[in-house]
Amino acid sequence: MLEQLSELPDDPILGLAAECRSDPNPEKVDLTVGIYMDESGHCPIFKSIARAQEKLIDEELTKAYIPAVGDEAFNIGMRELIFGSDSSALNDGRISSIQTPGGCGALRIGAEVIQSAAPGAKVWVSDPTWPVHIPLLGSVGLNFETYRYYDPETHGVDFSMMLDDLSNAQKGDVVLLHGCCHNPCGADLTMDQWKQLTQLSQQQGFTPMIDLAYQGLGAGLEDDVAGLRFLADNVEEVIVAASCSKNMGLYRERTGIILFQSESSSSARAIASQAKVAARRVYSMPPAHGGILAGLVLSDSKLKEDWIAELDAMCIRINSLRDQLSTHLTAACGRDFDFIRRENGMFSFLGLTSEQAKSLRSEHSVYMLDSSRINVAGINANNIDYFVKSIARVTN
Ligand SMILES: Cc1ncc(COP(=O)(O)O)c(C=O)c1O
Repeated sequence: MLEQLSELPDDPILGLAAECRSDPNPEKVDLTVGIYMDESGHCPIFKSIARAQEKLIDEELTKAYIPAVGDEAFNIGMRELIFGSDSSALNDGRISSIQTPGGCGALRIGAEVIQSAAPGAKVWVSDPTWPVHIPLLGSVGLNFETYRYYDPETHGVDFSMMLDDLSNAQKGDVVLLHGCCHNPCGADLTMDQWKQLTQLSQQQGFTPMIDLAYQGLGAGLEDDVAGLRFLADNVEEVIVAASCSKNMGLYRERTGIILFQSESSSSARAIASQAKVAARRVYSMPPAHGGILAGLVLSDSKLKEDWIAELDAMCIRINSLRDQLSTHLTAACGRDFDFIRRENGMFSFLGLTSEQAKSLRSEHSVYMLDSSRINVAGINANNIDYFVKSIARVTN
């Protein structure tokens, strides 16, 4: 039976990262995969997480399954981190959540619950969006429509086109939004645009679903969810799929959460029961380790304070790299790269052609996607000059 299967190509992003690893050039620059890298080009373990891990190792008595809903302290901490302690939905018990294997698991369980409520529902996704969204949500049976989002001319959001397209979204449809630090383009909505989108959601009755994979890495933990909170405070039903991969550095621990805000506490309980049953049929229980670590950090005031300081330092570093790239690329290439400064988070489209991206790889060992999306956090003091010179060579 299985021998009829043909070999599939590697995931394009992971395939390029593997190509970079095997490149012997000591000056190679890897800007492919979306992981945070520090000045030494290393993806660090947060010190606060390492301290929580020591505590866990000292105190852990069993490796028995954790409940399908996940770690309690993690659920409580994440609900508050995302919706804010003054959220009336939170205080009225209208938010339910379950811990999931990463942000991908959260998106998948969200899709399962949507499919149970409205089989084959239409999900509106931004053009462009993270390439995994469609296969991940679509494998459950949901359908898709795209809305215009990124304007390559201005390197910003084309909000009037976005509103125009979403004025066709109806009650029963889901509109997938990036909470902050849009992947792949780095262009986010302003607060005023979130307000207009909220109004559209009230008018049209669609359900917003927010993918929140980078909270804290754009403008800070609170500012990055200001738009999400405004929306949630003014619309009854909201779904949030959050990841702790980047903002807690828990990538391989597969730590995420799916949260549902609904119109009453009884419907919140019903939705949570649906999410647990969906998890049971897909993977049963979430991995325990990352959720427990994140729960320990979020429920201990000292660890939480230290974690926020570490995350803020990462965010400041990314924004300083954005400043440096804007200044140096503009000077070296004689064209305007100021948009890099205006964007948020780890990603940016440089606006190069795919031929230029390919020659950067083959001639300079600078690895970015063919779309010229870069992971800004892959730049550091050791490689920035080489990177800028390489871009100047292929563009001039
Ligand atoms: C936009 C977006 N959503 C979700 C995820 C999934 O995160 P996780 O690795 O926690 O599954 C990612 C990861 O890169 C992402 O970029």
